[in-house]
Amino acid sequence: MSTTEATSTTPAEPVIDDHAGDEIAQSSTGASLARSVARSAEIAADLRVNPGRYRMLTGDRPTGNLHIGHYFGSLQNRVRLQNLGVDSMVLVADYQVITDRDGVGPIRERVYSLLADYLAAGLDPEKCTIFTHSSVPGLNQLMLPFLSIVTDAELRRNPTVKSELEASGDRPMSGLMLTYPVHQAADILFCKANLVPVGKDQLPHLEQARVIARRFDERYGRAVADQPVFPQPEALLSEAPSILGMDGTKMSKSRGNTIELGFDADQTAKIIKKAVTDSDRHITYDPDRRPEVSNLVMLAGLCLDRTPESVAEEIGDGGGGGLKKLVTEAVNSYFAPHRERRAALVADPGYLEDVLAAGNTRANEIADATLAEVRRAMQMLY
Ligand code: TRP
Repeated sequence: MSTTEATSTTPAEPVIDDHAGDEIAQSSTGASLARSVARSAEIAADLRVNPGRYRMLTGDRPTGNLHIGHYFGSLQNRVRLQNLGVDSMVLVADYQVITDRDGVGPIRERVYSLLADYLAAGLDPEKCTIFTHSSVPGLNQLMLPFLSIVTDAELRRNPTVKSELEASGDRPMSGLMLTYPVHQAADILFCKANLVPVGKDQLPHLEQARVIARRFDERYGRAVADQPVFPQPEALLSEAPSILGMDGTKMSKSRGNTIELGFDADQTAKIIKKAVTDSDRHITYDPDRRPEVSNLVMLAGLCLDRTPESVAEEIGDGGGGGLKKLVTEAVNSYFAPHRERRAALVADPGYLEDVLAAGNTRANEIADATLAEVRRAMQMLY
């Protein structure tokens, strides 16, 4: 028995206090952000030498089809980590979709669309466990002990929950919306992931997971004497540039400004044709002063594996028309193989179902093993 707390009716010290959640609210700003950036750089270097030390967990909500922003922002990096030999878990966060008030949409279709893009991009079911978290009861059961060690106040201070609260005005917020950072902690901790590739906006969630791992250890103790049940997960911050939508605002499905990975060459040409540029015919790469033009230049550079400066130089005085022509060709030829693989996968739903079923089986094995430890630590092993 590693803890005396369990035998006494009053805990020696409260595990959570009023300010315990401050680090979560502050994790994506100031000194805390700087620490995360520095630590992430250390991990990025260590990954190349010791990939076997890491288990990665990351994923997406199936709220729409993936687009090229996802590809360059996260998919490519996941495939790289998988191929480095990092133990990889990729989550289709279907339960997270029901935090949204407006219904789930065609959820099943979206899940398989996501899966097709994962596989087309190079995630390999032999090396990477792809699963839907609604299919993993043990993961979801972690919500109960985890909810017992967070406070209502700290959840309301979580920046994502807070902005959701503010944006929703008078519309009521569900209990699941309020607690989804806890569910996300369960996603990370059920498989004892120690590496979570994220954008800066997700840092508070990761900090919440770290806090939960620590408090679980403090309150409930250990399954084996010398080791906490849950490790402290760390962020691997994305180094990828973020790609703007074709109208120059954030790339987002709801704005209709994305190039979906499933688009064909014509759809791609059409959306790029509508892209916002400016009146200066001389094309340069100047993200501060010419964000829309520079975004297109960068996109061509990513597809051609060239620097944006050299792309801009090649177009020279070709204007917006010349730029769009080059971008369209670059995107279409870069994504042609992806699109071909994607179409073949979509045409074989039985295969996609098998891949997901195998991933879910493996995720359940992992979740059940963790849950057994949790039960032992909580003295609820009957
Ligand atoms: N919140 C993430 C998104 O919006 C998806 C997600 C759910 C996730 N659980 C996670 C990401 C755990 C990293 C780790 O896409």
